Amino acid sequence: KLLETRINAAVELRRGLGLPSAITNAYRLVNSEGDRLSGLIVDVFGDLAVVASSAAWVEKYKSKVKACISSIDEINHIHWRPSVEILKEEGMDAADLKELHPSTCPQRTKVIENGISYAISLEGQKTGFYADQRENRMFLSMISHGQRVLDVCCYSGGFALNAAKGGAMSITGTVNVILSDILLGVDTSLPALELARENIALNNLDPEKTSFLREDATVFMKGALSRNDSWDIVILDPPKLAPTRKVLQSASGMYRNLNSLAMKITRRGGLLMTCSCSGAMTQSGTFLRTLQGAASMAERKITVLRQSGAGCDHPIDPSYPEEALHDDDDDDDDHGGDDF
Ligand SMILES: C[S@@+](CC[C@H](N)C(=O)[O-])C[C@H]1O[C@@H](n2cnc3c(N)ncnc32)[C@H](O)[C@@H]1O
Repeated sequence: KLLETRINAAVELRRGLGLPSAITNAYRLVNSEGDRLSGLIVDVFGDLAVVASSAAWVEKYKSKVKACISSIDEINHIHWRPSVEILKEEGMDAADLKELHPSTCPQRTKVIENGISYAISLEGQKTGFYADQRENRMFLSMISHGQRVLDVCCYSGGFALNAAKGGAMSITGTVNVILSDILLGVDTSLPALELARENIALNNLDPEKTSFLREDATVFMKGALSRNDSWDIVILDPPKLAPTRKVLQSASGMYRNLNSLAMKITRRGGLLMTCSCSGAMTQSGTFLRTLQGAASMAERKITVLRQSGAGCDHPIDPSYPEEALHDDDDDDDDHGGDDF
């Protein structure tokens, strides 16, 4: 009964936030402690729900969790993604986490977010889609008109696609088109780039004007710097570099170096949207200090224009503020704090 009550409350909360809607059907339905369901995350992609379980109780009551989610009107399929390493720490046997019956859930689906279509692979990173960046992507689309935009660590191209929607500048057809003339996304993951390229076609964008490149972020940015390439807006959204507080110091160095490069390839007076999904960085205030260090390295003066985090469908329980810091037992890499 408790489970049903809390899942129903989570559904009601999202309905109150206008989710799903005619223009967005990818969102977080259950956000662990934020919905009083510690260890349970549910992302909804159209008629499909992806359940990320990281607590023994979720596995124990799996059939009840599934029944509650199946009873939600729009949900036709459930994809179960146990966080095996965390569950093993909780004393669970890996063999018990295997699905007994082969899944009938489709492995790919399509969603719409703020009017932009995305292909999602359920084998993809996280639950398959970074729904937490929805509001930040929309903000980017509002400021992209006529701007040259670079999306570093782009995954399936969410920021680049929003920049395109917002009218970011792209030049083609000239003799010497340089990379900064094209709306560009960069990532090392081939499956992610395949999705990004599919998304260009899904949204009827010109592949010559919006392009995705497989390259390491540091290598790409150093190359751009050596070619004197720069962009009006740079988005930097690396993976979680500080998964635990123990590695905070070394991760700060990595964030500083990446951000310093990103600042150098942002034109003077331009905008850098820099993200961290490491709770240990953002909640401890280390991220802003790291950005200041990056600015000194880049010999740039910076001001912070806007600080934001995950979308409002990712509630946090204020009586459990440590939640965002507990990366040690949480492999969900939500964007706890993103800064301009
Ligand atoms: C937090 S996700 C980005 C999410 C994306 N901005 C979105 O809105 O969907 C981080 C991305 O960094 C990529 N990545 C990891 N290491 C990288 C590297 N060394 N260089 C470039 N990209 C990298 C991952 O493949 C992943 O797609």
